[in-house]
Amino acid sequence: MSAVNLQIEANPEAVAEAAAALVLAALHLAEPTLTLALAGGSTPQRLYRRLAREPEQPWSKLRLFLGDERALPDGHPDRNTSMAMGALVEPLGLSTSQVIFPHAGAEDLGAAALAYQQRLLQEVGDPPCLDIVLLGMGGDGHTASLFPGEPPATGWVAAVQAPRDTAARQRLTFTPATLLAAKQVFVLITGRDKAERLAAVFEGRDEGPLAQLLDARRGETRLIVDTAAASGLAGSQ
Ligand code: 6PG
Repeated sequence: MSAVNLQIEANPEAVAEAAAALVLAALHLAEPTLTLALAGGSTPQRLYRRLAREPEQPWSKLRLFLGDERALPDGHPDRNTSMAMGALVEPLGLSTSQVIFPHAGAEDLGAAALAYQQRLLQEVGDPPCLDIVLLGMGGDGHTASLFPGEPPATGWVAAVQAPRDTAARQRLTFTPATLLAAKQVFVLITGRDKAERLAAVFEGRDEGPLAQLLDARRGETRLIVDTAAASGLAGSQ
């Protein structure tokens, strides 16, 4: 595994606090903009709510992207867009030009992925070098919408199908290549249900998308996890 900075915090609130401090520091240093890709899920949501409590920051520098999205109608509560709008974009009053999200409600998801890829390259260059990509990890080991055992997602943004029994199987996601090209990647993981998989990732027993990413990353990569998620790691007791 390449150099990964592992930070263990007491609880999910402390994970959000630590990630918020990193995002705010980057926002202050950014010139002229900070490009930030959001993740879905409850752990990242706690971070967005925390950031939304800081209205006095230089938010006009922020350009927001979405690392993955579910192909559901616009406004659907399970869309990552809906969560990000409610937890971060609306409370901070960000302008529409700052919010560069995919149109995953589109009927043709392949075309939506291509359109989002074009927009991404236009905004951050080719290869797409986002300043910060936020990720989570599902209990099944998926990160962004890259699922263990599914065919590799190619290009920079791909339309993919999640495994059977997954909510909202049609998804649009950044590919591993995009996650590798980012300047900084922060992976936020909380909860005991993630402990076994996280330990497997660190012990080289997991070949899922997160393990592959951590192996291949050369840029700064931080895992910010709570003690429950870290409870399977050697020396964590
Ligand atoms: C999605 C996500 C996903 C998420 C993790 C963590 O499925 O939409 O983007 O990768 O970040 O599943 O979610 P929790 O923090 O809720 O476990």
